[in-house]
Amino acid sequence: MTQTLAEMAVEVLNTADGRAKTALARQHAATWFAARDAGTPLEIGTASPPMHPARPEAPELLSPRDVPRRKPGSEKGRIALLHAVAHIELNAVDLHWDIIARFSHVPFPLGYYDDWVRAGDEEAKHFNLVSDCLEALGSYYGALPAHAGMWRAAEDTAEDIMGRLAVVPMVLEARGLDVTPGMIEIFRKAGLDDAVEALQIIYGEEVGHVAYGSKWFHFLCGRDGIDPKPEFHRLVRHYFHSQLKPPFNEEKRAEAGIPPDFYWPLADETPVAKR
Ligand SMILES: [Fe+2]
Ligand SMILES: [Fe+2]
Repeated sequence: MTQTLAEMAVEVLNTADGRAKTALARQHAATWFAARDAGTPLEIGTASPPMHPARPEAPELLSPRDVPRRKPGSEKGRIALLHAVAHIELNAVDLHWDIIARFSHVPFPLGYYDDWVRAGDEEAKHFNLVSDCLEALGSYYGALPAHAGMWRAAEDTAEDIMGRLAVVPMVLEARGLDVTPGMIEIFRKAGLDDAVEALQIIYGEEVGHVAYGSKWFHFLCGRDGIDPKPEFHRLVRHYFHSQLKPPFNEEKRAEAGIPPDFYWPLADETPVAKR
């Protein structure tokens, strides 16, 4: 029997091991796109996603203030940074499949599912790339403690597709665009070409994920006659419990369809005067 897309998404969410989760995500994405190309799209269906996706026994999850900080200038520090990135990527795999399964009752054009299946596939690739880098340095995902609470945004917005789009792709993933160039620089200085290459792939593809968020947020606003900017501000203030941190990557945010008046009013500084 052919699985529906929602069932595939739930299967990814319920797979605990990182490499197994990402292998399944990539396989399901290939199945989805093969059916799309053949002109026989899979049924979206409905399914009950778990409130918390299955995760491996390691890493140990600690509150952010208990995760040891290491200087990025050392080998240990670079491993810790890659480990943190791997953790973010694994969480992102679940986030993208969760947005498919959790809101399968909300009617969308098929392009919505294309976008999130592609994003879920790319996150799986990102996790594998970063895990490969960790293994090349003699470590592995699970060797160090990682942040608990990464799933908080998903839980908070489990009932609100507009809130989910505003907070996850348009705030959290957009933040990734702000900080990734600095990380690439750290690994470039250390001569770790594989890590530089992995982060450049991630950086390029994450622009797409932020753009999907903005696209579908605006789609829903347009369908319901809602003014997008004040609605975005309202949702982020409601679901995201801190202010946004400049400096912002205005160029990549613009490329992803997020204009400055979406994020500056939510920042903890006023913009410096523009030249
Ligand atoms: Fe990613
Ligand atoms: Fe992403």
